[in-house]
Amino acid sequence: MALPPPIRSKRLRKLFTLAIFLVIVSCCCTHFALAAREVSTGAGHDKAMRERYEKWMAEHGRTYMDSAEKARRFQVFKSNAHFIDSYNAAAAGPGGKSRPGLTTNKFADLTEAEFNNFYLRRRPRPPSVAVGTGFMYGNMGLSDVPANIDWREKGAVTPVKDQDSCGCCWAFSAVAAVEGIHQIRTKKLVSLSEQQLVDCSTGVNNRGCNLGDMDEAFRYIVHSGGLTTEEAYGYEAQQGTCRSSGKKAKAKIRNFQYVPPGNETALLLAVAHQPVSIALDGSSNAFRFFGGSDIFGAGGQQCTTDLNHAVTAIGYGTDEDGTKYWLIKNSWGSGWADQGYVKIARDVTSNTGLCGLAMQASYPVA
Ligand SMILES: *[C@@H]1O[C@H](CO)[C@@H](O)[C@H](O)[C@H]1NC(C)=O
Repeated sequence: MALPPPIRSKRLRKLFTLAIFLVIVSCCCTHFALAAREVSTGAGHDKAMRERYEKWMAEHGRTYMDSAEKARRFQVFKSNAHFIDSYNAAAAGPGGKSRPGLTTNKFADLTEAEFNNFYLRRRPRPPSVAVGTGFMYGNMGLSDVPANIDWREKGAVTPVKDQDSCGCCWAFSAVAAVEGIHQIRTKKLVSLSEQQLVDCSTGVNNRGCNLGDMDEAFRYIVHSGGLTTEEAYGYEAQQGTCRSSGKKAKAKIRNFQYVPPGNETALLLAVAHQPVSIALDGSSNAFRFFGGSDIFGAGGQQCTTDLNHAVTAIGYGTDEDGTKYWLIKNSWGSGWADQGYVKIARDVTSNTGLCGLAMQASYPVA
């Protein structure tokens, strides 16, 4: 696979401008320093790093347009690899529960700014916005729902998708929630179209690959009469003109509701009944490079409550150590974390959810 078009295209200059702009305006970009840091190493280390880089490039089928770009990408890779190595070395200390390892996954040649620009939705909204729709699961208690649930086992989750270098995680999050309720109501699992949302759900907040919100996506699906299939309206990783007319709406919803914000009990009651769209901070390096099937957050992984990414909660449970977790479906392909899914620690904060995951949850009503 070649590098995503936005990286090698004419938009490179625009990207640099944006990156500089982000550095200037943002007061929470603690990781920029990490990505930019030059770690001095001896020539021997550099040779080993180059070999590691070549191996990584082959593994990921990565090619670049010229040697200057490759040289630049190598520096970024090196910086990320140093971060990952020192993180893993610190994790492997004697005694105590070791932290799950980070991996040089497909994001390893992207700077923090590029990653944030391509893969996150970058749209913080005040939690106060997410109220006032009613909450249909509010009259229930924890004794009314199963102790654990995995909607994959119930056939309500399509295979992990890949948003590629288009910041429309909001569309993937909303679609996964609609796919879920559609299967629960009809017993038919149908992969639905993110591209329809990217092209057609273009209201105040939804701007294709740049940013968006699931609630506005749900509103579009209600008013447009439904979503067509992935097959009929395939994903292109860029915004185009809306081509939904003449395509058959496969999944309809009547409405959507917010989960009362900052309440993991309420979130659990909702997830017990259907996959739920959630927002979280997906920008930490620990999250970006997370590998394996361990629970994110159970080993000291850091994140903030800035909501810049959207995913779908598809279950919850408790592991053999008694650690409670959420089961999350992401849209970064099956090479990320545990085949594209991740467990995140549950009930470890007082009112936000880890990484802010309980602050802006919503689900379609069908
Ligand atoms: C959280 O939600 C549950 C279920 O709706 C509710 O019973 C409880 O009172 C809520 N807690 C807070 C602090 O609002």
